[in-house]
Amino acid sequence: MNQHLRAQSIPFIDIGAQRQRLGKTIDEAVSRVLAHCQFINGPEVTQLEAELASFSGAKHVVSCASGTDALLMVLMAKGVGPGDAVFCPSFTFCATGEAVALAGATPVFVDVDAATFNMDAASLKRGIATARKLGLKPRAVIPVDLFGQSADHDAIGAVAEDEGLFVLDDAAQGFGASYKGRRLGTVALATATSFFPAKPLGCYGDGGAIFTDDAKLAETLRSIRVHGQGSDKYDNVRLGLTGRLDTMQAAILIEKLKIFEDEIAARDRVAERYARALGNIVTVPRLAPGCSSIWAQYTIRLPKGIDRDGFAAALKAQGVPTAIYYVKSMHQQTAYRDFPVADGGLPVCESLSADVISLPMHAYLDEATQDRVVAAVRGAVST
Ligand SMILES: Cc1ncc(COP(=O)(O)O)c(C=O)c1O
Repeated sequence: MNQHLRAQSIPFIDIGAQRQRLGKTIDEAVSRVLAHCQFINGPEVTQLEAELASFSGAKHVVSCASGTDALLMVLMAKGVGPGDAVFCPSFTFCATGEAVALAGATPVFVDVDAATFNMDAASLKRGIATARKLGLKPRAVIPVDLFGQSADHDAIGAVAEDEGLFVLDDAAQGFGASYKGRRLGTVALATATSFFPAKPLGCYGDGGAIFTDDAKLAETLRSIRVHGQGSDKYDNVRLGLTGRLDTMQAAILIEKLKIFEDEIAARDRVAERYARALGNIVTVPRLAPGCSSIWAQYTIRLPKGIDRDGFAAALKAQGVPTAIYYVKSMHQQTAYRDFPVADGGLPVCESLSADVISLPMHAYLDEATQDRVVAAVRGAVST
């Protein structure tokens, strides 16, 4: 096709549109930090933590350097290490299992539910049995609120309670969503999130946070965040990290949090429109009862017989970008293929990896642009 006639490409996630809306407020927030020069542990960090606590309902919020650190810090604080098994879904971003391996423990991969893409409690039980057979000590479970939808926290929590595991919720993609009327951040012992720029609540670099109602855990996390510092600054009492969120990112997040509720509503509208327009030709995401989604991704499944690469190419020709999260589940990746999987295997993870594809999704996707996406999807499925 002639380059000049090629449809102009639309953004997959439009960080620029949000930046434009926020305008001067971001510049001013950054300028305030540049003026006071407290680049580490400045007043904005404490303010952001308090505002995130009131947004989520969690008693304690410990901000940190990334979502990966958020997961790792909780595992470190709970003393998870060699010989321990931590159960993760395999259909997730690699950081979920990576944090477990970094802590020295063994990630045991479990299967997910075909409709919600989230951890399957029955496979979790099988994974626990597998771990025991291997001589590992079951310690924790990390459900992931994948693509923004909260996991089945009651079902996972019930298995965890029966088996004496603690629950670390990986809400890197799900912060802002709810489970049975409670915001994520309050439904597990600890919840980790990421402020990576493309996340629903993202900063302008790396960042993350941990939410918990457990005061002792929060105190330990604050120590781990600064190299395991004790009450005497020069007597480090445990191993830790350089795990802080910097003040500039906190200042940016304070401004973004002010419009987050409004963006959540806008994302819901986009998702509802997609579901109405596409529900009869592809498998659109399904919200389980009691679960909401923040729609970090809008991920569809293609009907049998539709070639995914051909579908993506057809959309690209119309200027519509797509992404595949995740072409390989964790247990299929080089670094993770030697870790155990739950008895019975992970057939759902493997089939999702073969047929999912994500469409543009963000709070600034106007109806005309969304109609272009819908037309391109319909055209690609019907040819
Ligand atoms: C499910 C999940 N967990 C953890 C992370 C890690 O977050 P970060 O990139 O901030 O380290 C991500 C980030 O993409 C994620 O999607």
